[in-house]
Amino acid sequence: MRILYPRKNHNSNGGSMPGHCLGFCCFPICTRFLLPLDATPDMEKIEEQFANLNIVKRSSGTEEPTYLLGIDTSKTVQAEKGSLVAVLCSNGSIRIYDKERLNVLREFSGHPGHLSGVRFAHSCDCVYSSCTDGTIKCWDARLASEKPVQLFKGYPSNIFISFDVSCNDHVICAGTEKVEDDALLVFWDARINSQDLSTTKDPLGTYSETHSDDITQVCFHPSNPNMVVSGSTDGLVNVFDISVDNEEDALITTCNSTSSVSCIGWSGKDYKQIYCMTHDEGFCWWDLNHLDTDEPITRLNIQDVREVINVKEGFLDYLIGGLYHEKMDKLFIVGGANTGIIHLMSCTTSGLIHMTSLQGGHVAMVRSFCWNMQDDSLLTGGEDAQLLLWKPGAIEKTFTKKDSMKIASSVYQRVRVHSSDSYKRRKKQ
Ligand SMILES: *[C@@H]1O[C@H](CO)[C@@H](O)[C@H](O)[C@H]1NC(C)=O
Ligand SMILES: *[C@@H]1O[C@H](CO)[C@@H](O)[C@H](O)[C@H]1NC(C)=O
Repeated sequence: MRILYPRKNHNSNGGSMPGHCLGFCCFPICTRFLLPLDATPDMEKIEEQFANLNIVKRSSGTEEPTYLLGIDTSKTVQAEKGSLVAVLCSNGSIRIYDKERLNVLREFSGHPGHLSGVRFAHSCDCVYSSCTDGTIKCWDARLASEKPVQLFKGYPSNIFISFDVSCNDHVICAGTEKVEDDALLVFWDARINSQDLSTTKDPLGTYSETHSDDITQVCFHPSNPNMVVSGSTDGLVNVFDISVDNEEDALITTCNSTSSVSCIGWSGKDYKQIYCMTHDEGFCWWDLNHLDTDEPITRLNIQDVREVINVKEGFLDYLIGGLYHEKMDKLFIVGGANTGIIHLMSCTTSGLIHMTSLQGGHVAMVRSFCWNMQDDSLLTGGEDAQLLLWKPGAIEKTFTKKDSMKIASSVYQRVRVHSSDSYKRRKKQ
């Protein structure tokens, strides 16, 4: 990997924002001829799957009320040990659960600092979090030790409010709050070096010129370890190739959401699209395939989703995040109502379409979710302190009952067919 030079030491023309790649994100919404593909059998299948999501496990299990603000699951397959779930709590600690039973296994704290954000490594069961003490901490989620196995130190006065780990676990990138005109992206080498066994690491470098306000989101590409996208309250979503030496050249493109960015993610085949949500419930969707073409890169731009979405029952009060369904090659948006109902919407270039709502789970705002592509399960966490595991059909008692009724009715049918057969036969005779 190349060293990322701090932009401040880099001699350049001194302009504040590279302007050459701005401005193409304001194309009108494409509402032309392309019909959404929602009528395909695949779409019906997934709609049914979403509609069939049942709660299979609930964990409330805390005496003191806490909001569940972030969820991630371990990515390694250690079948005999089971998957782990890490949950960021509003009191600034991270709880580790086993995924099937939702038992609390252990807890990590940044004390006296507050933890923000939670992310598992891809190749081991390490869990990362940013801390208000100006560090990114990394724990081994299989160990009860309260001490982080790695500590990534920022520069003095850095307050990290976002971060991510590259898909090969080589690089950590964290975004800061704006302090004295500086909003930084700070990078570290996250590899464990057998020569250097120290557990504390200093940054490789920073990007300092592409955002002018708090960097609320950092998200690495799911398969290209050099691609990272950042989002900020300045409304900009910046896409970087960090294998390029300096910040200005590394910046591939800037998309303008025109509002404070609250969530970003990658979507589409080979993950060449980016979507973004804003703090005032706006939604933008861009296609990087069109960067070098005359096609507009904006696939969809909705100023306020609450005003345009047609929810079958009830209201949409807020957006939570997106999930790209690889098997279906479809982007879905998850939102909710203040009562705790979760709304699932599918995303097309002509708009968002409400598919189904998950009720009977949360009783307050849902703040976090994590979709598992392997078994199509969904974990949700909310302001009611509940962590819920949803799965399509299966296990729930009601299903078992329905299932046995089905068997009963098919037995009944066979009997009936048989008897009518014999009746006919008897008649002929
Ligand atoms: C945070 O909340 C959890 C559960 O409610 C509790 O076990 C833990 O001790 C709290 N942590 C801090 C740092 O207060
Ligand atoms: C983003 O768009 C808004 C609204 O159109 C505009 O005021 C702002 O200057 C744009 N930001 C940049 C950096 O182009």
